[in-house]
Amino acid sequence: MTRELTQLELLRELESVAEANVNRHLKAARDWNPHDYVPWDEGRNFAALGGVDYDPEQSRLSDVAQAAMITNLLTEDNLPSYHRVIADNFSMDSAWGYWVGRWTAEENRHGIAMRDYLVVTRGVDPVALEQARMTHMTNGYSPELTAGDRAGELTAGGQAGLLRAVAYVTFQELATRVSHKNTGKACNDPIADKLLQRIAADENLHMQFYRNVCGAGMDIAPDQTLRAVTDIVTNFQMPGAGMPNFRRHGVLMAKHGIYDLRQHLDEVLMPVLRKWDVFGRDDFGPEGEKTREELAAFLEQLERDTVKFEEMRDRSLAREALKKARQEKKAS
Ligand SMILES: [Fe+2]
Ligand SMILES: [Fe+2]
Repeated sequence: MTRELTQLELLRELESVAEANVNRHLKAARDWNPHDYVPWDEGRNFAALGGVDYDPEQSRLSDVAQAAMITNLLTEDNLPSYHRVIADNFSMDSAWGYWVGRWTAEENRHGIAMRDYLVVTRGVDPVALEQARMTHMTNGYSPELTAGDRAGELTAGGQAGLLRAVAYVTFQELATRVSHKNTGKACNDPIADKLLQRIAADENLHMQFYRNVCGAGMDIAPDQTLRAVTDIVTNFQMPGAGMPNFRRHGVLMAKHGIYDLRQHLDEVLMPVLRKWDVFGRDDFGPEGEKTREELAAFLEQLERDTVKFEEMRDRSLAREALKKARQEKKAS
């Protein structure tokens, strides 16, 4: 059996890939300013400065759009925790260190723009939003949170390991891309849509960086990397887990197509696994082959769960539509 590469060896082996991908990123990324996406002329003072405090009537966002906006923004707010995971696992030198700083700065822009938009337009309750941010950031995020029962096995001293960290952020960046894109549509406001499409484009570029690093990992250490990928895929939880109202908001978002199991499987997991050619490649050893079977079985079960979820959702939405139609008939 081939020896597993250490964290240091992986960083050295993958450094040229990190460098090439930093350069690719800088060429593809477009600079933008958060303030250009906020309708400042809609803003006014709150009571502390002689104005009027928030009232739910002021929001033009539906319940679904509010839940999605809050969830996506709190996810962005937790950047210091993600920074810690990435910085702990990457080196602070060379292209690795540059990427950590650059990526962190880009992510911070997302939270700035979304909060400014929400506070100026009074899209959500700013007091509740601030309280949720305090709770969510105080809880923080650690890889154990997404590891479920296998936390002890998956992390050593809170460190996810380079391969698990890049596998996790690959899927997470793509998941946030899907979620931002659909939230933009759900807001029913061209300004919010433009802002969230802009953020989603950033997330896609971030995903490409991590996906390419992880893919190169699979080329140099196929069994070891597939193990890390499988650990992440089979334990994946959106980073919102643990945030206030996550269950209620998560259900609303899944029910209304912001982020659901079908999207998770078809738009997040499968495109990345296909890009790495996980099910086509022939360079796995006996351990890797076993891991691949485990991953395939998990995906088959997820497909069955997804079909069940879709049937349940369709029934529930049909019931709601019927109820609404009856109420409207009664009222007319
Ligand atoms: Fe982001
Ligand atoms: Fe991102």
